[in-house]
Amino acid sequence: MNTKEIISNLEQYLKIMIKSTDRLNHVYNVVYFSQRLARIHKVSQERVRIAALGHDLFREVEPSKLITIAKIYSIPITEFEMSAPILLHGMISAEFLKRKYKIDEEIYEAVYYHTSGYEYMGQIGKILVISDSAGDDREYKGVKKLREESLRSLDLGYKIAIENKIHYAIEKERYILEQTYKTWNRIVLNKNLNN
Ligand SMILES: [Fe+2]
Ligand SMILES: [Fe+2]
Repeated sequence: MNTKEIISNLEQYLKIMIKSTDRLNHVYNVVYFSQRLARIHKVSQERVRIAALGHDLFREVEPSKLITIAKIYSIPITEFEMSAPILLHGMISAEFLKRKYKIDEEIYEAVYYHTSGYEYMGQIGKILVISDSAGDDREYKGVKKLREESLRSLDLGYKIAIENKIHYAIEKERYILEQTYKTWNRIVLNKNLNN
């Protein structure tokens, strides 16, 4: 399948996998904002589109099924994912896309780590993490800053998105995922090394 075929196939598949109109709306908001970022920051729009269309493919699958599929895909399940299986939806979506469409490593990594962030994230992943929390369907304190800064700099936008995840986790008493704090530490380390 070429890139165009993958995109149209994925659009069909999304309709089957995502029943809620709000979530479908979210996915297309992510697509829209990620396309803007890709254009501005000169990243492949088609590859970003595949990552955005596919990132939440398994978001509506029920928790016990997510555990079963993760086992089939040999995805390591920690006690945190065991207690909140929804955390597996990105990893499962990435594995599915790799098997079905043979997506490249950067798209895979973007989708796999879109919930947590990833300390060695590429451009596509940075765009996806930002767009996932900056689309028009999102409304929270700081979202405007995230939108504006990410149009200027992907690195700055990514830093703000990770920072927001940490604040949100503390505020809502949710887990700060391992890759989220590792990403934060990596960003600070790189900053210190460059000073
Ligand atoms: Fe997601
Ligand atoms: Fe999402």
